[in-house]
Amino acid sequence: MNLNIYLKKKRKLVDSFLKKYIASKKRDKDCPKHLADAMGYALMAGGKRVRPILCIAAYEAAGGNTESIMPAAASLELIHTYSLIHDDLPAMDDDDFRRNQPTTHKVYGEATAILAGDGLLTDAFSMTANASASPKTLISVINELSRGSGPEGMVGGQTVDIILEGKKATKKELSYIHTHKTGALIRASVRIGAIMAKASPAKLNALTKYGEKIGLAFQVIDDILDVTGTTEELGKSAGADTARGKNTYPSIFGLNASQKIAEELIIDSLTALSKFNKESEPLEEIAKYILSRRN
Ligand code: IPE
Ligand code: IPE
Ligand code: MG
Ligand code: MG
Ligand code: MG
Repeated sequence: MNLNIYLKKKRKLVDSFLKKYIASKKRDKDCPKHLADAMGYALMAGGKRVRPILCIAAYEAAGGNTESIMPAAASLELIHTYSLIHDDLPAMDDDDFRRNQPTTHKVYGEATAILAGDGLLTDAFSMTANASASPKTLISVINELSRGSGPEGMVGGQTVDIILEGKKATKKELSYIHTHKTGALIRASVRIGAIMAKASPAKLNALTKYGEKIGLAFQVIDDILDVTGTTEELGKSAGADTARGKNTYPSIFGLNASQKIAEELIIDSLTALSKFNKESEPLEEIAKYILSRRN
């Protein structure tokens, strides 16, 4: 298979779904125009859409084959984009660029940026709740979404990331930060796809393992790219982690060892898929892409 064609096709599906969502916000007289504009500004700036695509790929690997996956897949991008808006705020990483444009708070001010994040987070849950699946499936998906993004997931990881800024984390703390701030939502993305496809427990377990491995690898590579990438390539300021005294894999293990750790995680993620045949090929290719990506 050609991964670039696959990613392009899925990105198009996700982008058109998100575009319709933002258009509906702009039409809704109960949603202030300024808020809808800020949400759209952050959401439609051209992210890679890795989480929704992983959700769709896991759904397909587990036998799902309809567009009913789209609301759940897109809701992951709403949560991810909210996490980026808040991550960039002066109270957190204080970043000026994101997805090749000034950060949301730079354009709309801090208060509106916080509220735009709140709006995206809240809408993620109603978007999923309105997907076409049985109530039992939807409740399970909503639980995954909540657990992956909440205090035991992304928000927990972000908390420790901020608390330990400027202090040297232990390897255990570093692993907590990364598996939670980034790993948890990626794990949830894969699991949600599998749950929507009614995967067997064995397949759900295998996909969960895959999600955990690529989720941690994704953040290790993000840390490496902060050192080796350029602002132009990344669409966000390079070197920001060192400037802020962040605990990263390169800062604790060094660049070469971090690269090795990421490679091993990707090998493990591929091993986790050994139960599958051809249907897991997109997931395998996405895992390799996570390792080789330049942004
Ligand atoms: C950036 O995520 C933040 C991390 C969790 C590492 P992505 O690299 O997926 O960013 P976008 O969505 O493509 O902008
Ligand atoms: C962010 O980690 C993880 C989130 C939950 C947003 P980073 O702070 O490393 O993400 P970037 O580098 O700003 O995209
Ligand atoms: Mg951060
Ligand atoms: Mg950041
Ligand atoms: Mg980073």
